[in-house]
Amino acid sequence: MFNEFEFDKMRRLPKYVFAEVGELKMSERRKGADVIDFSMGNPDGPAPEHIREKLIEASAKPHNHGYSASKGIYKLRLAITNWYKRRYDVDLDPDTETVATMGSKEGYAHLIQAIVNPGDMAVVPDPAYPIHAYAFALAGGNVQKMELPYDEDFNLLEDQFFHNLEKAFQDSFVKPKYVVVNFPHNPTTVTCQQSFYERIVAMAKKERFYIISDIAYADITFDGYKTPSILTVPGAKDVAVESFTLSKSYNMAGWRVGFIVGNKKLVGALQKIKSWLDYGMFTPIQIAATIALDGPQECVAEFTDKYYRRQKVVIETFNQAGWAIRPTKASMFLWAEIPQELQHLGSLEFAKRLLVEAKVAVSPGIGFGEYGDKYVRIALIENEKRIRQAAKNIKTFLAQAKQNAPKQAQ
Ligand SMILES: Cc1ncc(COP(=O)(O)O)c(C=O)c1O
Repeated sequence: MFNEFEFDKMRRLPKYVFAEVGELKMSERRKGADVIDFSMGNPDGPAPEHIREKLIEASAKPHNHGYSASKGIYKLRLAITNWYKRRYDVDLDPDTETVATMGSKEGYAHLIQAIVNPGDMAVVPDPAYPIHAYAFALAGGNVQKMELPYDEDFNLLEDQFFHNLEKAFQDSFVKPKYVVVNFPHNPTTVTCQQSFYERIVAMAKKERFYIISDIAYADITFDGYKTPSILTVPGAKDVAVESFTLSKSYNMAGWRVGFIVGNKKLVGALQKIKSWLDYGMFTPIQIAATIALDGPQECVAEFTDKYYRRQKVVIETFNQAGWAIRPTKASMFLWAEIPQELQHLGSLEFAKRLLVEAKVAVSPGIGFGEYGDKYVRIALIENEKRIRQAAKNIKTFLAQAKQNAPKQAQ
């Protein structure tokens, strides 16, 4: 019925590669398999107690149950500006340069809806967190890809980045208006230095484009690395906005709280579109989020330590199992090159076989873009005991797969 009606926007969204692995995971579980799941960036464990208690206390008050403020209650926006001041010594106006969002994914997708005109072009490095690219497709815009260049320690190769970016500008059939950057990067874990932001702000002013920076993993860093913010560059607010989320730092992924700050014109557009689309998060969640940002921060260090320990266990045990994985300075992921003998499978087939034969779920790199296909992403969301179990399963899987590899490669 009504088969002649096509939904063009839906046609621009490809089938989610991760859905394929997800369905296989469910089917294995239904058969009774104990799947060890490293596939999603979904923190395990609850939000800290003091934040949960604030939610309970605030939800007991009847006046907190009505519609809230779509751009976030003032106290939360103030807490966001205090967070930036404390952390980066950046001054922000809570009214005009700050907007609280229902997680940073919602904020990002609606920002793009608000600012993109049909046919507008954006440059998004590949691989990418999928919404970074597809938000533009949903908004009627287009994406000019460029390869994200990095070394074996997952440091951004700055010169190569700007070379690739300039090439993307030359190759694009209309001049790009937006460039998306995300460091620490999902899925590759790549980190950048402050100098990168200085260069890209200067380029944005010269070439006239906006920069959208996502620092979702800013807090989850190891070995003394500190995540820089684009907004510390003098004049960055003329050309840039930056987003952050409470999902990762405070184990609040299901609460849906994030924010976008910076350039008034972009923040204003997001505030306006949100005023048409939503009534804001449940007020008690916003009050508890205020406490998360303003309150004790030991929990953030605890979660970071947990990811660091897990990273070490994965690297050590998977290495013993025959899979060499490089360490990283940031994020809750490892970007793991597929063992040489099995690279011919491609990341989707490798991930499927790992799931069926070793009962270990990972995200295939191809789901993040064509330049991700030699890798899979391991999210450090299983405890150390289960990581060790995964390594045992992988050892058997790799031994068998390597034995058979020459035959399959023929
Ligand atoms: C780079 C990046 N940005 C944004 C998000 C979205 O987080 P949330 O919508 O929970 O704030 C994620 C989630 O995994 C992410 O990896």
